[in-house]
Amino acid sequence: MSNESRVPVEERLYLPAPGEESDVELMPAGDVTEGVVRVGGTIRRPHQPQSFAVADYLDWLEDAGFDATPRFLGRDAEGRDVLTFVSGKCAGAEPEVWVQSEELLESVARLTRSLHEASEGFVPAAHPFPPRPVRQDPPELVCHLDVTPQNIVVRKGVAVGLVDFDLAGPSTALKDAFNTAMHWVPLRDPADAWPGWEGTDPFRRLRIFADAYGWTTDERRRLHAVGIDAVRLSYERMEHNARTLGGGWKRMWDDGVGGLIERRALWLDAHSERLLDCLIDRALRES
Ligand SMILES: Nc1ncnc2c1ncn2[C@@H]1O[C@H](COP(=O)(O)OP(=O)(O)O)[C@@H](O)[C@H]1O
Ligand SMILES: [Mg+2]
Repeated sequence: MSNESRVPVEERLYLPAPGEESDVELMPAGDVTEGVVRVGGTIRRPHQPQSFAVADYLDWLEDAGFDATPRFLGRDAEGRDVLTFVSGKCAGAEPEVWVQSEELLESVARLTRSLHEASEGFVPAAHPFPPRPVRQDPPELVCHLDVTPQNIVVRKGVAVGLVDFDLAGPSTALKDAFNTAMHWVPLRDPADAWPGWEGTDPFRRLRIFADAYGWTTDERRRLHAVGIDAVRLSYERMEHNARTLGGGWKRMWDDGVGGLIERRALWLDAHSERLLDCLIDRALRES
């Protein structure tokens, strides 16, 4: 749909398709949002302060030809956000062994890259993204910032969908890509490995991600510093959200997410040389 024919997101009302309301399924709980349900071919989510900013971004992505994200259809009679349902499967809270596929990892990296390319030029206007707690990210590019295994929709073993734009907003492509790699490699202390993931090689997987995304040599050199800063900031924001917002944030904090983030930072620091070694071939490193 072209921009001119669209109803502004704040005026968009969703009229249910016939019979749809009797086909309701509770979605697997993510970390934070309560009450995400599928109704027919739609997803209903509670309306949130960032919803209209996200809706404008989703419109932009549609116009840019990016077809992996849901469309914002409007709000329903209960005031909930209505989005298109992207069919396929998502990983569980502790990603299953099928999520380890290297083909899937490559496709996630490529999808993240396409998202960044499609996002270029989008500047929030009518609905700014709410400021983030603690420090702001540099406003280079609006991007997703939460490309976890639970937020990627998979069909035939490859990533075809990207959902849950709750953390989207201005940041940098390198930070979003680091964050995606962090979730998908994953980059974490081996003591925190998910069941069945103990044997995976993070250095091999990071290189696969880097090549599929297409990081430049300079970006590869900067990755460790960018990563450490992102991890520290995420610690501060999680702590802040747990204290001020409660709910799922407090639950994650009480479950020990702070310790996990601290161990991740220590692991990244302890392996800074190996991370560079796996990302940049020796000959290039020494040149
Ligand atoms: N548009 C969508 N299409 C298909 N599945 C979705 C969509 N939105 C959410 N889901 C499913 O519902 C789950 C929880 O929704 P999500 O928006 O990620 O909420 P949370 O903030 O709790 O993580 C997702 O992990 C995914 O499995
Ligand atoms: Mg989610």
